[in-house]
Amino acid sequence: MKPHILPEQYQPDSFAFTRENEKQVKEILKRYPKGKQKSAVMPLLDLVQKQVEVEGAQATPPYGGWIPTAAMDLIAEIIGEPKIKVYEVATFYSMYKLAPLGKYNIQICGTTPCWLRGAGDLKKACESHLGIKMGETTSDGMFSLEEVECLGACVNAPMIQLNKDDYFEDLTPERMIEILDLLAENRREDIPVGSQVGRNCSVAITGPTTLKQVGEKKKPAAKKAATKKTSTKKAPAKKTAAKKKTTVKKAATKKSTSKAKAAKK
Ligand code: FES
Repeated sequence: MKPHILPEQYQPDSFAFTRENEKQVKEILKRYPKGKQKSAVMPLLDLVQKQVEVEGAQATPPYGGWIPTAAMDLIAEIIGEPKIKVYEVATFYSMYKLAPLGKYNIQICGTTPCWLRGAGDLKKACESHLGIKMGETTSDGMFSLEEVECLGACVNAPMIQLNKDDYFEDLTPERMIEILDLLAENRREDIPVGSQVGRNCSVAITGPTTLKQVGEKKKPAAKKAATKKTSTKKAPAKKTAAKKKTTVKKAATKKSTSKAKAAKK
C-alpha cells in the first residue's frame, strides 16, 4: 500500500527526543557494534512514533503516533546515514505512520484466512459503528480504520491490530463493537490482548490434542523402561550371590574330603 505522507506545509519544523528518550537513544545505539549504528534505524523510528503517540494522546483532538520528516532527518544525523536511507525504511514498512491518524488505529487483517473467518463482517461492523470508511479518521480524532495484510496470527482469525503492538484475535462483529465502545471510553486496559474467546495462545479451540496424546503414550513406555532398568541391575547381584554360594559349598566339600583323608591315615 502506498504510504500516506503528511504534506510538507503541515510538517513540524523540528523534532527533539524527550530527556527520557534521549537516554533510550543511547541505549539503542549501544546494542550495535562500533561502525554499525545504522542498524539502529528501525528501533529509533519506533521510538519516535511512541513518543509522538504519548504527546498525541494528551492533545485536543487526540491523534495517534506518527513520524514527522524532521524526526527522520534527526535519526539520519544520529546514525550518520543519508536522509534518504531513513526515508526508504520508514516508507517501506506499514507499521511506521508518516501522517497523524486517530488515537486508536484499527488495522483489520483482510488476507485469506481472516477473510474466510469473517474479516469482511468486522470491517462492516467497524464502518457502520464509527461512521467512517476504511482509510478514514473520525472527526473527534479517536479512531482510524485501515485494512492490512496478514499479521501472522491466522490461526486465531479473524483479528485486528490496534496501533502498533496490540493484537485482538478470534473476533466477532459483536465483540468488535464492544472493543470500540471500551476504547471510546478510554478503557484500553479492560480489553485483554490475544484471543477474545479465552483460547490459550494458538492452541486448538477444542484444547490440546496431539501433544496430549504423545504425553499419554509416553507414560507406560517410561514405566516399562524403568522396570527393565531395575531387572538388569539386580540380575548381576543375584548371579554374584549364587556364585558365592557355590564357592562356599565347594570350599566346604574340599575341607570335608581332606578331613576324611587325614582320618584314614
Ligand atoms: S490472514 Fe489474518 S493474520 Fe494471517
